[in-house]
Amino acid sequence: MTEQEMIEKLSFTLKPSRFKHSLGVRDTAVLLAKHYGADCEKARLAGLLHDCAKNMAFEDSIKYCRENHYRLKEVCFFEPTLIHAPLGSLMAQREYGVTDPEVLDAIYYHTTGHENMPLLTKIIYLADTIEPNRTQAGVEQLRVTAFESLDEALIRAIDATVRHIINKGGILDTDTVAARNYLITERKNVEK
Ligand SMILES: [Fe+2]
Ligand SMILES: [Fe+2]
Repeated sequence: MTEQEMIEKLSFTLKPSRFKHSLGVRDTAVLLAKHYGADCEKARLAGLLHDCAKNMAFEDSIKYCRENHYRLKEVCFFEPTLIHAPLGSLMAQREYGVTDPEVLDAIYYHTTGHENMPLLTKIIYLADTIEPNRTQAGVEQLRVTAFESLDEALIRAIDATVRHIINKGGILDTDTVAARNYLITERKNVEK
């Protein structure tokens, strides 16, 4: 499938604001990939498709996973917004013909992160948070930090997510905690 075909399919599948966000993440991911020496094409593809499952209804998501014998982590059933990331990875494969495991992993982990993330996954996580359509408090500073220190920006982005989840009384995915702990341990090792 060409990028143009993917864009067309996304424009039918996603709400307009989500579609715009996807293009923003694609472009920001490419800028970060260029800056940090990652593969720009992979960043472009993962950025474009990362939310491809975002506007699927909960029941349809569960049905789609079941039909494809795709096991979801238990936390997804308590925090349904988490489903679109693993489901997006499956759909990128089945509906958009993506086969690259690095791209599929970056999509899979774009909401939670995980321990010791590869560069591409870090880039997609951060691009999702700082793309030009985002307006949350502190995003402008985070955009600057993202190009100075990827890991520092990631820690701040994860902290903001964790605070948000705690404030609304939600459940933290253990991968998010592991992602954060790993990055902070690394930072402490550098400081030593
Ligand atoms: Fe997402
Ligand atoms: Fe997103």
